Amino acid sequence: MIKIDWNKLPRHIAIIMDGNGRWAKQHAIGRVRGHKKGAQAVRTVVKTCREIGIKYLTLYAFSIENWERPAKEVEALMFLLDEYLTKETKELQKQGIRLTTIGEIDRLHPLVKDKLLQTKESTAKNDQMVLNLALSYGGKDEIISAVKRIVQDNKRGIIDISDINKETFDRYLYTYGMPDPDLLIRTSGEYRISNFLLWQMAYTELYFTNVLWPDFTKDDLFKAIASYQKRERRFGLTSEQLEEIN
Ligand code: FPP
Repeated sequence: MIKIDWNKLPRHIAIIMDGNGRWAKQHAIGRVRGHKKGAQAVRTVVKTCREIGIKYLTLYAFSIENWERPAKEVEALMFLLDEYLTKETKELQKQGIRLTTIGEIDRLHPLVKDKLLQTKESTAKNDQMVLNLALSYGGKDEIISAVKRIVQDNKRGIIDISDINKETFDRYLYTYGMPDPDLLIRTSGEYRISNFLLWQMAYTELYFTNVLWPDFTKDDLFKAIASYQKRERRFGLTSEQLEEIN
């Protein structure tokens, strides 16, 4: 039995969904079918997070670096995303889930981009959970884009150099308005951050599992949450200081 303290859930979970290709290889099928099975795991995790009361779920669905994959695979991933949006919008509505995105959405195929915008708009008022898809996303790219916009705003007299601090910088990131992730899960036995939420993960608890993403179940999610709950988050303070605060 996996023991979870339902009063101490992470507010924001971020996931690097890795291992679709290896899962396909293990099953002697094409990579695209691995991604297809991965999209099913997405459905399970979204549903579970909503059921248990996670407020923000960020999924790394497509990195900026993923554009370099074979064109056929990129196309298939776009198709899967499109299919997901078509099939799940109703469910997102029903469950009160708001869809948001981070990344260079303008680089996506216009049809996928349009569908994303429609879904974002139609779910904008939902307030039970935020499903945040990282698409054409890169952490370093996000930081550079923030810096560029700060410089522009500085030139226009909107922000003074002395006003640039961690809080104002946050406002220029794609994730503005969202809390930083409390827990990062990465599947498939890789121990890397892979250019994901570099700024936002300064104090995130990291959890790695050997499970390949298409095999990731509700129980695997619970194991990650249980592991998170055993950790003491000190944010640079001592245990004694934390006791005083709490
Ligand atoms: C990494 O596995 C996974 C991806 C690059 C894509 C993730 C996409 C999905 C799970 C499906 C579509 C998403 C949505 C939101 C419907 P990999 O291909 O790098 O695996 P490997 O390292 O084993 O080759």
